[in-house]
Amino acid sequence: MNFTVAIDGPAAAGKGTISRAVAARFGFAYLDTGALYRAVGMKGGDPIEAAQNLTTDDLARDDLRSLAAGQAASQVAVIPEVRAALLAFQRDFARRPGGAVLDGRDIGTVICPQAEVKLYVTASSEVRAHRRWLEVGGDAAIVLAEVKERDARDMGRADAPLRPAADALVIDTSDLSIEAAVELACAEIARHLRP
Ligand code: CDP
Repeated sequence: MNFTVAIDGPAAAGKGTISRAVAARFGFAYLDTGALYRAVGMKGGDPIEAAQNLTTDDLARDDLRSLAAGQAASQVAVIPEVRAALLAFQRDFARRPGGAVLDGRDIGTVICPQAEVKLYVTASSEVRAHRRWLEVGGDAAIVLAEVKERDARDMGRADAPLRPAADALVIDTSDLSIEAAVELACAEIARHLRP
């Protein structure tokens, strides 16, 4: 069975948590595509070469969730050749037998426009910055500024800008518990699995 769940949305909206939960619920494989861009950003040197030669060691770095890695990721993510180098891997993953969940910025719009389920997970910038602050700590004002700066760059870039696919279900998690958001996502997937 091929079944792709595409989950997009701005920084720290809860995509990763929802993706892991739905992947576990339905037995699908999960790919955090942001980790690819974070690894390219942190590798240093020429980002295009880094994207073309990404290794499992690059993806195993323990600093990929840092604020610096998020910023580096969104800077290399504007480069069309970087995005092109990561495309085939993501598409292959999406069509692996047994089902797949991918989260990122352009999964429903560019990587898998034919995905069976598309979700756009969002929340207010303040709520998202608070969640990221709980994860990384530090100065809350800097975390909020970082989230806003990264969203602006991701939404404003020419190649694969962040936006909901026309047929995506939008889930605003500003006032939703993680359990409630996961249940909405699971209901949408179940509807498409058993029409
Ligand atoms: O976890 P968070 O939502 O904060 O970020 P992430 O999903 O790890 O993505 C980090 C950065 O990588 C984003 O701000 C984007 O610039 C870039 N990215 C992208 O351009 N396309 C994707 N499919 C995934 C991430």
